Amino acid sequence: MHDFHYKNGELHCEGVPLSKIAAKHGTPAYVYSHTTIRSHFQKLDQALAALDHTICYAVKANSNLAVLRTIAKLGGGFDVVSKGEIERVVAAGGDHNRCLFAGVGKTEREIEFALHLGIHAFNAESEPELERINAAAKRLKKTAPISVRVNPNVDAKTHAKITTGTYENKFGIAFEQVKKVYAKAAKMSHLQIKGVQMHIGSQLTTAEPFEGAVKKLIPLVKDLKKRYGIKFFSIGGGLGIVYEPALESGNLTWWKKKEAASILTPQSYAERIVPMLEPLGLEILIEPGRFIAGNAGVLITRVEYVKRTGKKNFTIVDAAMNDLIRPAFYDAHHDIVALTKKGDTRINTDVVGPICEAGDYFCKDRPLQKVKEGDYLALLSAGAYSFVMASNYNSRPKPTEIMVKEKQFSIVRGRESAAELWSQEKVPSWLK
Ligand code: LLP
Repeated sequence: MHDFHYKNGELHCEGVPLSKIAAKHGTPAYVYSHTTIRSHFQKLDQALAALDHTICYAVKANSNLAVLRTIAKLGGGFDVVSKGEIERVVAAGGDHNRCLFAGVGKTEREIEFALHLGIHAFNAESEPELERINAAAKRLKKTAPISVRVNPNVDAKTHAKITTGTYENKFGIAFEQVKKVYAKAAKMSHLQIKGVQMHIGSQLTTAEPFEGAVKKLIPLVKDLKKRYGIKFFSIGGGLGIVYEPALESGNLTWWKKKEAASILTPQSYAERIVPMLEPLGLEILIEPGRFIAGNAGVLITRVEYVKRTGKKNFTIVDAAMNDLIRPAFYDAHHDIVALTKKGDTRINTDVVGPICEAGDYFCKDRPLQKVKEGDYLALLSAGAYSFVMASNYNSRPKPTEIMVKEKQFSIVRGRESAAELWSQEKVPSWLK
């Protein structure tokens, strides 16, 4: 599942002790395992081998250039949601023609940019968007490749903030209206219908919702193939990961054995959907983000203070909600472990950052190894939707990012300086 493990009591990423990285580059720091990213990609690729398929990595999960480069070298395509993400893919040496451009709010500027450069397809999410793409293509004397995002109205049974496939959400076009929308698109002079797309939500931990949505769409997909000769069906992303590894005999295992059977794996996912998809004779695109990057990263942080107030213990660390917002925003669980194992004494503690907000916590009353000032902790499963959602709240420079491959490690994004934070700010002359 991943390449983080204890060796001689020291948490390693591949062949490198994380304490060595903390000592050299300081904290807070994100550390990514190149090997884990690669092996997650390859496991999914192998599970889908029976299909003509392309893994279009969801750039939003972790858009560091070194991560994108890794995906490009593995032969992946990219699911992008902004001009900035397309530019990142290109900067990382990825192919813009393998980018699927999703998102409900594409601006004219973004559409024109993508048309000039050339992309695989726009995943259109509304009729006005199709009209806007058509008009832009006409202006630029181009033909725009498009697919339509279908909202299948299937409950993904995941956190409300990351559910996308029901009619409560802003995403896609309602299942019942899709045929009409394709018929309209077919009449627009500068569109070329290339595919169909769906995405029902993120962090799905069972195969059933995927299976249900694919099953629901199959007749529609066949019809679209017959009528418009579509070439691809993108089934979106959403494969969940394990956020709560068990500590077994002092080491990390990513699930308790008895639970293993029920956990979504590339195999259990593929077993359910490949038999339905294979007979379609279409290219199948899949847009995973978290599955590739989530368990491939950790956030390392230094313990600044340990204090007890009233009835509770607090471990105050140098990372904060601005660096990793998932616990505050989604009540997300990230496991927290010490970089250096010292004895078996555990105490219940909140792990919190220095920001003056009650939401600035990483866990509450969790039994953790007893630590003291100067020790280091790692927040696990922080490779996806972590650095990318960081902010500069409290004028805190964003953490540095480091990638490890076997015994080597390199900074893949330097730590921001305070001056960079206000480099675009100006005091108007009338205030001087
Ligand atoms: N395709 C589309 C159209 C999407 O909207 C998303 C994610 C993906 C693919 C990739 O989903 P994944 O395979 O990573 O589950 N910030 C949240 C997650 C937001 C997901 C948004 N869309 C979190 O931290 O949990």
